[in-house]
Amino acid sequence: MKSFFVTGGAGFIGSEFVRVALKSYENLKIVDFDALTYAGNLENLRGLDDARHIFVKGDICDKQAVLDAMPEGVDAVFNFAAESHVDRSIESANEFVETNVLGTQILLDCARERGAGRFVQISTDEVMGTLPERDDAFFTEDSPIAPNSPYAASKAAAEQFVRAARETFGIDTVVTRCGNNYGFRQFPEKLIPLMISNALNDEPLPLYGDGRNVRDWIFVTDHCEAILEVYEKGSSGETYNIGARNPLRNIEVVSGILDHLGKPHSLIKPVEDRLGHDRRYAIDPTRIETELGWKARIGWEEGLAKTIEWYVSNEDWIASVKSGEYQEFYERYYSHRIAQ
Ligand SMILES: NC(=O)c1ccc[n+]([C@@H]2O[C@H](COP(=O)([O-])OP(=O)(O)OC[C@H]3O[C@@H](n4cnc5c(N)ncnc54)[C@H](O)[C@@H]3O)[C@@H](O)[C@H]2O)c1
Repeated sequence: MKSFFVTGGAGFIGSEFVRVALKSYENLKIVDFDALTYAGNLENLRGLDDARHIFVKGDICDKQAVLDAMPEGVDAVFNFAAESHVDRSIESANEFVETNVLGTQILLDCARERGAGRFVQISTDEVMGTLPERDDAFFTEDSPIAPNSPYAASKAAAEQFVRAARETFGIDTVVTRCGNNYGFRQFPEKLIPLMISNALNDEPLPLYGDGRNVRDWIFVTDHCEAILEVYEKGSSGETYNIGARNPLRNIEVVSGILDHLGKPHSLIKPVEDRLGHDRRYAIDPTRIETELGWKARIGWEEGLAKTIEWYVSNEDWIASVKSGEYQEFYERYYSHRIAQ
């Protein structure tokens, strides 16, 4: 029997990863450890096999709670838990340092104490900052670390602690750096679900700046399959970029959503740009494609259609996660920008 310790498994990517992993291995038991912050939702785990998936509510900064939940000799730790929204990190960075940096360090200590087989750190292309605005500019694994937002800085710092744990204590670690994910169950503060949700309600679609910022989009299931590939075949100490060769301008993404839903482009409302907004992210996934034989399977048109259909069929999910704290954040962050 294989065992995984997954943190942040009630969030967007973590909950998909848990599904993909349970499907990939018959003899797998997962301890899913999540603090259930505003971004974590037990609804995301509905329908999972209780015998093979054990949910534990806990904070990765609480060492004793992690030790209590992590099985001795666990085969792998997958660290998805994070404060993940750039705009929130601009408002206040402290929670990002706590969870993303201190939390990762505590997990590394616990993994060592429990004799974990491999530590997989889920990182982001944002640690490499921004690329020049040229269609032939891409991040490789050798691009310099140059984070520009507090979120990206905290993820970059976490990567350094992972590296240090390997060099100092010999822990078997790998790091994955992925671009922007889209798919089912993504919290509606992020670009694609925010735009789908607003378009469905005929509300303005707030688009930062000139809308020409480029993000490299990947369907969440492809990302999760790539992480499993890195866990299984990746070389210890290596970093792997994960991408679907799909860089798009934000305006292209938003227009695609409106066209799919048959809504007018007049719903788009340009708003004051995000502070320090990176212009271009684009990933060169050659290493993972050639060394590990992984390739993204889901194209943009197919993935976007599936995603939109999911949100259309799950309006109650959107309504439940958009209540309370999220509503306050949205008002605070966007209301004055849209009014301009
Ligand atoms: N979303 C993306 O496009 C993207 C791209 C590349 C990398 N990543 C990384 O993937 C990971 C998951 O991202 P996501 O989009 O699913 O995020 P998310 O915000 O949807 O989920 C984060 C999860 O972590 C949990 N969490 C937060 N703080 C915690 C703590 N202190 N202890 C335990 N659990 C805690 C939350 O409850 C939530 O369930 C993050 O590490 C993020 O940096 C995300």
